[in-house]
Amino acid sequence: MLFRSTVETDLDRLLGCVVDESISWAHPERLLSFLESGHYHHDHIWVAERDGEILARAVWWGFPGGEPLALDCVYVHPSVEDRVGLAAELLRHAHAQYGDAPEYHVFVANGWREDPKASAAIAWRWEAAGRAGLTEELERLRYEWTADMPMPEPSARLVFSGEDDDEVFVDAFRRVAVGTLDFHTRQALATTSPQEQARQDVAEYRKMPGDRSWWRLAHTKDGDLVGVALPSANNAGPVVGYLGVLPEQRGHGYVDELLGEITRFHAARGVQRVVADTDAGNAPMARAFERAGYRNFAIRLVLSPAT
Ligand SMILES: CC(C)(COP(=O)(O)OP(=O)(O)OC[C@H]1O[C@@H](n2cnc3c(N)ncnc32)[C@H](O)[C@@H]1OP(=O)(O)O)[C@@H](O)C(=O)NCCC(=O)NCCS
Repeated sequence: MLFRSTVETDLDRLLGCVVDESISWAHPERLLSFLESGHYHHDHIWVAERDGEILARAVWWGFPGGEPLALDCVYVHPSVEDRVGLAAELLRHAHAQYGDAPEYHVFVANGWREDPKASAAIAWRWEAAGRAGLTEELERLRYEWTADMPMPEPSARLVFSGEDDDEVFVDAFRRVAVGTLDFHTRQALATTSPQEQARQDVAEYRKMPGDRSWWRLAHTKDGDLVGVALPSANNAGPVVGYLGVLPEQRGHGYVDELLGEITRFHAARGVQRVVADTDAGNAPMARAFERAGYRNFAIRLVLSPAT
């Protein structure tokens, strides 16, 4: 078996890999458009090949010109008996080349655990990913707001303002991260200083296609900082981005006003759909989405290496 990253001339055979399970995958249209935009790159698509036939394929996503950031799709040919073993080996080869193990993101419908087809599709992939070092499991709830929902009222308690200085956001992010229920932030804080973690987060949000000028600080009418609200966008369209309330300001329902401001901002631009994810374990955030008329339409499963 040959394990290798792909080249331009593999394209036809890559397009021939078909996943017909109830799970997100790198289907031909996605493969072609992301190869063109640079979010997929042949260096970050790996195959297991025997006698010129692709028996397994793994596809990673990243920003154009950047490192692979998330595993997007794992395919194994139906003729392979040990699909877990082959997929795990393929991932291990790619991880060895990358020098780390990017997270694996899979989108499934709500209720996937009760759906035998979807849970089977997840089960073998998770086992393979686990064998390749992706052992931490996280379930994120995907929410959407659509323009037929009521437009939130402007906040009566908070004043929102823009701020050009990234350092001000770094400081606010650092404070908001204290006591967070967000898995990724907590994981990052286990190995990174609060200042550095905040700096990395700000840098990541800056890379997103949303405008930096959309970012807002929220203050009380007395001028005390309450939190941040960052409407943004990803490749698929407008997103909530990030919001957070300082620990000393929590428990007053300010989350509703920050989320309301982000939703209003997008709605005022004529946006028809705003998407957001939050960890299933971040109950105050999930409840805020539900109060604001966001609908939980799917689940994002994330597997990552243990820290
Ligand atoms: C999620 C968040 C914005 C909620 O803000 P908030 O304005 O305090 O929310 P609410 O006022 O609705 O809080 C509801 C309840 O949850 C509690 N709560 C809020 N955040 C909490 C936290 N991080 N840990 C424990 N409890 C929390 C509140 O104290 C309140 O409890 P009570 O009902 O007993 O008074 C805030 O926790 C936060 O900034 N977290 C860090 C950043 C984050 O997770 N952002 C979302 C990323 S998708």
